[in-house]
Amino acid sequence: MSALMMHSFKLGLSGSRQHSTVRTAPRCLPARSRGSVRRSCRSTTRHVVTMSANRQWILRNRPDGDIKKTDLELVETPIPAIEDGQVLCKNMYISIDPTHRIWMSDAPQYMPCVELGEIMRAVSIAVVEDSKFDGLAKGDIVSGIGGCQDYFVADGATLNKADPSLPPPEQLGPYSMIIGLTAFYGTTKICAPKAGETFVVSGAAGAVGSMAGQLAKMAGARVIGTVGSQEKADWLTKELGFDGVINYKTDDVAAKLKELAPDGVDCYFDNTAGPVLEEVLLQFNNNGRIALCGLINQYNTDKIGVKNYDMILMRRLTVQGFICIDQLASMGEMLEVVKKGIADGKIKYKLDIQKGLESYIDVVNMLYNGSNQGKLMIEV
Ligand SMILES: NC(=O)c1ccc[n+]([C@@H]2O[C@H](COP(=O)([O-])OP(=O)(O)OC[C@H]3O[C@@H](n4cnc5c(N)ncnc54)[C@H](OP(=O)(O)O)[C@@H]3O)[C@@H](O)[C@H]2O)c1
Repeated sequence: MSALMMHSFKLGLSGSRQHSTVRTAPRCLPARSRGSVRRSCRSTTRHVVTMSANRQWILRNRPDGDIKKTDLELVETPIPAIEDGQVLCKNMYISIDPTHRIWMSDAPQYMPCVELGEIMRAVSIAVVEDSKFDGLAKGDIVSGIGGCQDYFVADGATLNKADPSLPPPEQLGPYSMIIGLTAFYGTTKICAPKAGETFVVSGAAGAVGSMAGQLAKMAGARVIGTVGSQEKADWLTKELGFDGVINYKTDDVAAKLKELAPDGVDCYFDNTAGPVLEEVLLQFNNNGRIALCGLINQYNTDKIGVKNYDMILMRRLTVQGFICIDQLASMGEMLEVVKKGIADGKIKYKLDIQKGLESYIDVVNMLYNGSNQGKLMIEV
């Protein structure tokens, strides 16, 4: 997906449709062999569509703190018609990412924010329903910025055909730009851990963090993760082979980091910023590297400064912020490494697939309260 494409999707229109609401029985699917899948197992409320129509989540207010029910509205609109060169797509899986909270704000950011009254932006995997674009036909699976809605219209040239050899949900997870490329670029190109070095990753049981840690293990590093629950800690040490885990909610982070990294830290893959970053800065070795990937600790708060910033000078650290959309040149290399890592059992992952477009607000908030288990998405 090109950066241009990130800006060029045409999203659906507004309108109406009839629907009713039913209760459905809980449904869970078994775990996959190398990746595991958690589907929403609670009883879910589902809209049954009785006419062809489009549901769309519209941003109504800029959230103040946590995302509230009143910040977005689910509206119903007609399915848009297509013109020459365009494709009508039906979303299958919508990627739910921490950056949604950034896009909802109008703070300075790496791409335009979502304006009030616009459809909430989201990356998705979709099936082509109708095409007036040579090269895409009904039934093709594509990826793009489909938005938080059932259907969208895009210029065909802005869509990527999905890889038919890979399951669609995985193409929002380990094999995606947002997860796979982010973890790969930050770990191998910025941190570049050498065998025997100590690599710390925050948000370590998350979609990006768990892959970053495993890539660092493959490079021969000693890997320490920070997480917010015992369940996540157990997964990292018992199944993924992390050398140590710190529960930032219950452990004394400074003491535990000293115990797990007695020779100091060489690399830090930062998904959170906040108190973990501030402590890691104090325990860095000279010439360490920080890949600044995300700041989830402060997405729902006003901007706050960083304590121990002086350690960047004292320890001669290199800090590089990066955004995956700028690193598409590494996509092929990432896919090669990640496919092999998964095939060899060196990379494991979890997909957290929640059901129903209508659950968007509850689902996106799972990222900020830590209740997601792996790559979060909605099956529409
Ligand atoms: N730079 C890029 O191009 C790029 C691309 C994709 C993602 N990202 C960033 O990468 C990070 C991880 O994204 P992801 O998609 O893999 O999400 P994720 O890690 O699967 O889910 C988010 C996790 O963050 C943790 N968290 C939430 N609030 C926290 C807080 N206040 N302090 C510490 N941890 C907190 C929670 O885990 P615990 O239970 O462990 O707290 C939660 O499960 C995010 O910061 C995201 O913005 C950056």
